[in-house]
Parts: sequence; structure tokens; C-alpha cells
Amino acid sequence: MCGIFGIVTDKEQQLGPVLIAAGQRLSYRGYDSVGCATLLDDGTTDLRKDVGKVNDVAERLRLAEMTGRRGIVQLRWATFGGPSPVNAQPHLDSDGDLVGAHNGNVVNNAELRQQFIAEGMTVRSINDGESCVHAVERYVDQGYDMVEAIRRAYHDLEGDYAFVIGRVGEDRLYALKKGSGLVVGLVEGATCVSSDLPSILPLTRRILRVQDGEIVILWADRVELRRVEDGAPIEREMEIATESMEAAEKGGYPHFMLKEIHEQPQVVAELVHLMEAAPHVSQMIERMATARHLYLVGCGTSYHACLLGSVYLARLAGRAASPVLAPQFIPQYGPAVGPEDVGIFVSQSGETKDVLNAIAVARQQGMHILSLVNVLGSTLMHESERYLPLACGYEISVPATKTFTNQIVAFLFLALRMGGHSTERMAQLPDLLQDTLVATEPQVAALEADLAHQDDLYCLGYGLTYPIALEGALKLKEVTYTHCEGMLSTEFKHGPLSAVHDGYPVIFVTGPEDVPLLVSGINETTCRGGRAIAIGEEDERLRTNVHDLIVLPQAGPLFNPVLATLPLQLLSYRLSLLRGYDPDFPRNLSKTLTVD
Ligand code: AGP
Repeated sequence: MCGIFGIVTDKEQQLGPVLIAAGQRLSYRGYDSVGCATLLDDGTTDLRKDVGKVNDVAERLRLAEMTGRRGIVQLRWATFGGPSPVNAQPHLDSDGDLVGAHNGNVVNNAELRQQFIAEGMTVRSINDGESCVHAVERYVDQGYDMVEAIRRAYHDLEGDYAFVIGRVGEDRLYALKKGSGLVVGLVEGATCVSSDLPSILPLTRRILRVQDGEIVILWADRVELRRVEDGAPIEREMEIATESMEAAEKGGYPHFMLKEIHEQPQVVAELVHLMEAAPHVSQMIERMATARHLYLVGCGTSYHACLLGSVYLARLAGRAASPVLAPQFIPQYGPAVGPEDVGIFVSQSGETKDVLNAIAVARQQGMHILSLVNVLGSTLMHESERYLPLACGYEISVPATKTFTNQIVAFLFLALRMGGHSTERMAQLPDLLQDTLVATEPQVAALEADLAHQDDLYCLGYGLTYPIALEGALKLKEVTYTHCEGMLSTEFKHGPLSAVHDGYPVIFVTGPEDVPLLVSGINETTCRGGRAIAIGEEDERLRTNVHDLIVLPQAGPLFNPVLATLPLQLLSYRLSLLRGYDPDFPRNLSKTLTVD
């Protein structure tokens, strides 16, 4: 996830150290490139940017020496265009009069770039931040002032983003918010604006929170807010931020895991936007469609996404795909695959050694390598013929949450497209996810005291919810250190049923179509004294047969697994806290497993 920071001061000065410090404070978000721009009183700009970490880029490009009255720093997490110096932000307009940077995604970037080129502008990168600058340039060139040009650009730029922009020869910066965070700080002798409160807090606690659809104009001694809709001024009282630095980094949440759980509606919205617009999708589908055989390969949570992906592909596109754990790919399929086959390798980090080992074998055999990857610039991305970015931003907590959700949403989208179905309904998912968080959090809380001291439980699912049961069990064991086994519900009677005794908890994750089958399994458990907890849509057949029902919004069988994931994440998180553990950093585990 990118981060931006801009500052306007009352006199020209050495701005480099201020920009570097702001960049360091944005870096908790994760990024691959860094750039700084300053605007000087003589009408020139100084732009320096490169791939790498803040301190390395600062040293290499001598960012500390940069002077100016106004400055912008941007940390980029690559989505449109790979990590490279030219794709790094900030960007200039055609003749260097405007300089700007953004945070978020402009989903019609490809079309806009073509328009800008056709209109004779100089487009240097394929990054969507540059499109924000040209979108303003287009109207400045037609004679509009900056506020009017930004208002018009707003209608051209589709997606969720915030950007900051400056023009040479002026004494101010402008910023616009549409769906991505933006907050203003009022400092002695300066004003600043940022995507993130933590980058502002060390400078001042006097802040102004910008709302969607607002433009902010920053001078050294004051700021002005305007409505993008009609340019009318907005009155808003400045406030005093009370958040601690640490709380601000976690967006006010006590843990990154909880923050990332709550980010899911937003990251799903961004992914769906991206997939609607990205050429990657049809290119991947073309390759998948011509495959003799399709393999979906991953580890841990990413493997569970592969399992669900294979069910979606079979059901929606009539396409058989074999989900396989990456290390097992080598002995099970390695000798049999060839150039006619395609593998989709799925990894949040893009650095999991087990996955890279499988790729090495697949490559040797001439197989086509596609991927779903969150960390752009990772080894997996470079190893892939085509990749689809998961667009989740940095996931800090060791337990994967939002990246799993975007992996399964990506598979659902691919399967719908491959099967020739409309993807229009996908736009409803963010709201459904938000409703699920709101509705299930208290239901989970009501259950937690009874489960907090259980050291054994099962989590069962069937069909579309089988992968969710496995993922829920993995999450529970990962952060609560209990034994929680995920299983196909129908397998339970083939052995594990013997473990059931009075009060033994068994969670049943059920889709609306599978209720009758699950009810049989539920009764096999309850008649032996087990405690059945179901996660599913409201259904009388469930309600009368289980002890506890966690009710999901009515969303149908395809969305149900995505929604059912959330209460299991919340339950894991809450039980982890009750047992006295840190869910962000469970013992013995690492976020990225680069070992065999
Ligand atoms: C999930 O919560 C785990 N942290 C783990 O299973 C993880 O999904 C696995 O190690 C694979 O990681 P990757 O997606 O980065 O390849």
C-alpha cells in the first residue's frame, strides 16, 4: 500500500531530512520504491526516486540535500507497473510544471494513458500515479486554475485514491481524497498532508481529517477545504489528535490482525476494481483455457485458496484444476507435467521456498507459470509468465487474513469470467463483508468464553465450505496453540467421531445448499454429547439442530465461503487474546518461510 506526504513551508530550506523522516514513518505499510520531489522558489523542481528502502534510496540519491519551499515524498507499493525508478513516484507532467504522487489505485489507468499519449502528453511510466498528474495537466493546459483542473480530473480518474500535487511558481500544494486516507497537519511555519496519521504526529497534533470528495489547498500558514462537486468552500474545525504513534500505525486497532480483518471490505473493493480493469485477467484466462491440465499450487493458507479455486473453476467454468500443496507437487505431478500444462502458483509473500522449489521443477518440465501474488517485486512475480496482483497492501500479522480473502475473491472472479458469467455482482461483496463483520463480531464474542479453555476442536465443511473449514482450523491453531483439525464434514464419521464427548466443540461451516447434509453430521455429533456450532445463513433446519448458530448475511452459495471466513478469523483472534497470546506474532512462526 502506498503512502504519501507533502509539506508547504514559509521559506525555502533543506527539506530532504523532513521528507526522509516522513518516509520512514510511512514505511510500516510496506513498499518497494521511494521518491521525493521539492519545488524551489526559482521555479525549478528537484525529483529523485528509485527502487529500495527509504534509508538506502536516501543515501544513494542524497535525498537529505534536497531543498525547497514545498516537498512531497511517496512510498510505492507496486500495482500498476513493476517496481522501477521510472514507475516510482512522484511524477512530473509533460513539461515539468506539475509534480504529484498518489496513494491507491486508478483503475482506468490503461485507457487514460492511451488518451494522454493521443493528446500529445509525455507519458514516461505505466504507473497510475502519473495518470493523476496528467489528468490535472489536461485541464491546466485548457486554461483552468488548479482547483478547477483537479475538480475536472476527479471525474476522469476512476478508482479509490488520494493524491497531492504542486505547480511551479506557486506557494501551495493541493490534495484530493477519493476513497484513500488523507489527513492534514498544522505545524508552526508549515502545513502538511499525508495518507497516514503516523507520518504527521511527530510534527503536530493539530490535524484536520479530509473526507472523500474534498480538495485541500495548503499554504504555509493555512489550509482551505473545497467540495470537489462544485468547488464550494467547506468549514471544518481543526482537531487535536489523541492517538499514540503505535495506535496510529495500527489505525487505532490493538493488533495488526484485527486491523487487517477489518480492512477486508476495502481490499476486496480494490481488487474487484482492479480485476474489472486489468488486462492481466483476460491474458491469464486465455492461458488457463488452453491448458491440457491446470494445477493450483500453494502452501498453508494459500493452498486453502487453491482448494476453493478448484471448486469455483469446476462449478463456474467447467474447468478441472488440481489443487496441490507445493512440496507435494514435485513427487506427485513433477515427472508428469509438460509444456501443455499450466500452474497457478499462489503466495502472499511470493518468497515461500516450498513454492519456489515447485516452480523450479515446473519450469524444468516446460510448464507455464502463472501466479497470484501480493508482494510485487517478489521472486514469484519475477518467475511468472503472468501474474495477478492481490492488491491487499502489506500484511503485517503472521496469520494471513485479508490476503486469503483476496486470493479466493480472485479465483471466484477468474472462474466467473472463464465460464462466461457476469462479474457485476462482485461489486456487492465489499458491503456484504462489512455487514458480516458487524453482524458476526458480537455473535463470536458471545461464544468465546465457552471456547477459551478448549484444547481440542474440529472445524468441518463440505464442498465450497470445505476449504474454509481447513482455513478456519489453521487460523485457530496458529494463534491459539490449540489442536484444531479441519476436515470434510462427511469424513468425520470415518474416524474422528470417536473423540466426541460431552461438550466437545465441533464447528460446522455450511453453505445454503449443503444444509441437509450438514444437519446429518451435526446430529451425529450432538447425539454423542458434542457441542455443534454452525456458521451459515439463517436457516430453521440449522437453528433447531445446533447449540450455536453464527448467522451470515444471505448472499448465496458463491459468496458464502468468502463471508464465512470472517467469523472464523474473528474467533481465532479473540480466543488468542483470551489465552494470553499475541495474535500478530504467534510463537515459532514466521510470515515468510524461505526455508525447506
Ligand atoms: C497463514 O496464516 C500462514 N501464515 C501460512 O500458512 C502461510 O499462508 C504460508 O506460509 C504460505 O505463505 P505464502 O502465502 O506467503 O506463500
